[in-house]
Formats: sequence, structure tokens, C-alpha cells
Amino acid sequence: MKFASRLNEVRESATFKYSALAKGEGIIDLTIGRTNFDTPVMIKDAAKKAIDEGKVHYTPSNGIPELRKAIVEKLEKENKIRNLTPENVIVSAGAKQMVFEAVMALIGKGDVVAIPDPSWVSYEPIVKLADGGVEFLPLNPNNGFIPDENFFSALENSDPKLIIINSPGNPTGAVYPKKVIEEIVDIADRKDSWILSDEIYEKMIYEGTHFSPGSIYNNVITVNGFSKEFSMTGWRLGYIACSNREVINKVGIIQEQSVSCATSFVQYGALAAFTEDVKKDVEKMRMELKERRDYVMERMKETNFLCIKPSGAFYVFPYIGEIDDMEYADKLLNKKVAVIPGSPFGSKGRGCIRISYGGVNIESLRKAFDVIEEFEYEDK
Ligand SMILES: Cc1ncc(COP(=O)(O)O)c(C=O)c1O
Repeated sequence: MKFASRLNEVRESATFKYSALAKGEGIIDLTIGRTNFDTPVMIKDAAKKAIDEGKVHYTPSNGIPELRKAIVEKLEKENKIRNLTPENVIVSAGAKQMVFEAVMALIGKGDVVAIPDPSWVSYEPIVKLADGGVEFLPLNPNNGFIPDENFFSALENSDPKLIIINSPGNPTGAVYPKKVIEEIVDIADRKDSWILSDEIYEKMIYEGTHFSPGSIYNNVITVNGFSKEFSMTGWRLGYIACSNREVINKVGIIQEQSVSCATSFVQYGALAAFTEDVKKDVEKMRMELKERRDYVMERMKETNFLCIKPSGAFYVFPYIGEIDDMEYADKLLNKKVAVIPGSPFGSKGRGCIRISYGGVNIESLRKAFDVIEEFEYEDK
């Protein structure tokens, strides 16, 4: 059967593929894009209550007003993003769906999107599905995958309608300093480009602080969600905010004509995420993740990998050498440790592997690194 040409260049998600392979018996799973914490109990209770109260029907397409209002307050207070009202927010079935809808609304044939290389596996396929072109902005492991002069000169030499940034980043864990984001904004402003700022790992920062480009530049679509911060990957809830109502109206059309709305009781559950008790749960999680990150970096010293300590998310992305990272990941899987090879994250991911410490405790990390070390010296 002949399928639509938009699928010609789009492959399955490498992270979903390797995560499925990691489910075998006795495998230490370092592939997962989530933490192993439970959703805070107040959120679960609020969702259950909403079901019991019969809040089980369609909601307004862009989301219930109370939730959009809470999101605006959060963005104003924590991210210093102003000029927002609930009408500037759309809530949907995950941050991924929001990136998809935003790209569908902005990008078409002939438009170029600048994407850091390496970056999250879904940006490029989403742009391709929208028929857009991609300009990659190279990142370097020697600089901890934080934009350097090569990144900026690639950006200067391109003419993107949209620039995607993701700090803290997947797969690198890199947290972009404020001055780096200011420099990106400066270029975007001169080129009249939009920025899509994916801030889904915002609360997983161990050194430094988060800076939102939406606080200094109007042409920004800020993307965030509940998956990572509140361990709600299965609930499917994310949002965008943009001070430009025209953008929101156009994205809203894609939302209406696709998912209709995010799940009703999930939205009511999410209202409880904005409470002090839940913030304490998130902070506990962050501390535990930091301990794991520190342990991983200690063990990293015993390898020949190049890995500058990442300050955020729950990934490390070491450069392991001039070797086939896909083959390396497959062989390591035979030794019962599952990681994601670096190539699917972009050409600059070649020779790297993504290790997620989000879903495993330190004991499992210890066992995994024992295997990785032995593998490095004996089998590679
Ligand atoms: C950078 C990045 N953005 C967005 C998402 C998707 O999040 P959600 O579960 O809200 O769709 C992920 C998930 O792995 C991610 O790593």
C-alpha cells in the first residue's frame, strides 16, 4: 500500500523502540524518559474527585479556565513571563502534542526550523511531518552541549522561521545560562524568528537557574507540561503560552480539529499541582535525582567517556568514542544494561549514549556501571 509522502522521511521514535527492548527480564533500564516517582497524592485525589463529581465530559477546547489561570499565575511568578491571560494558554494531551500543534500552525513547505544537534528525537520528525526544513545547530560535548560559537554561527547563517530550544535539555541535561538565551533571543529578534522554548525539565535543575526567553522576547511559544515535574507521563497533559493571540487562535484550530481537548478529569487533577504540598514533593524528587546524578558522575570518572557534568534533567550524554553507538547499545543490552544510542538524537549524537537516571535507584546504577566499566575494558 502507498502511504502519504509526509511519512517518507519519518521513522519510529528511537526512545520508544529502545525502551521497549529494555523491558526484558533482568535488564537494568537506563532508557526511560521519566522518573520512578509516583504522581503526588493530592493530584491523584483531585482527579478521582473530579470523576466522582461527573466531570467526565468535553471541556473547552483550549482547557478549563481555572487551569489556564493557574498556569498564567505560575508563568508570571516563576518565569517572569508577562502579557499573558488565560486566553494566551492552550492545554493539551502532553507537551509533545503541544509542540506538534505549534509546529503544524507555524510551519509549512519552504519554512525552516533551527534545531540544536543533538536534541530530543521528536523535534525533527514533527517538523518533517509539517513539511518544513531543518537547520541543525551543532552542540559540542567539550562545552557540555551548551551553545558555543559554532552553534551561534550556524544560527547567524540560517534564516529560520522558528528556533527550538530546550533547557534543561534532552538528551544532554545541559542548562543554558541566561546570557546564552539572551544571545539566542538577540539573533531571533534581528532575524524576526519565533522561538519555541521547551521547558519541560524546568524543575530538574541542580546547579544554576532556569531562564525563560518568554520573559524578554514576545515572539516566544513557551512549552511546558506535567509529565516530568509531577511524574504524570501517563496522564498526558502539557501546555503552551504565547502573548500573541493570533498564534494561540491558529494553534487552537489544530487542537479543535485533532484532540478536541485534554482529558477532563486530568485537567482538574492538575489544578492540585499548584499547591505548596505538591511543591515539597517535587523538591524531594529533585534532591533524590541530584544524588543519582552525582553518583553517575563519580562513576563516569572511572571510564574513558567524555562527560561534562550536566546541571539538569535526568540524563547524561557521554561521548564514548569513535564507535558505532547503535552497535554499542545493542551489545550492552546483551549484558543486560539498556541505554539509548546517541545517533537518533542527531549527527552530533554519534559516538554518544544517553543514560537516564530518572527511573532507577543508586543500587541499580551501581550494578549498571559495574557492567559498563567491565564492558568498556573487555568487550568493546
Ligand atoms: C524535551 C522533551 N519535550 C517534550 C517531551 C514530551 O512530554 P509530554 O509527556 O508532556 O508529551 C519530552 C518527553 O520525553 C521531552 O524530553
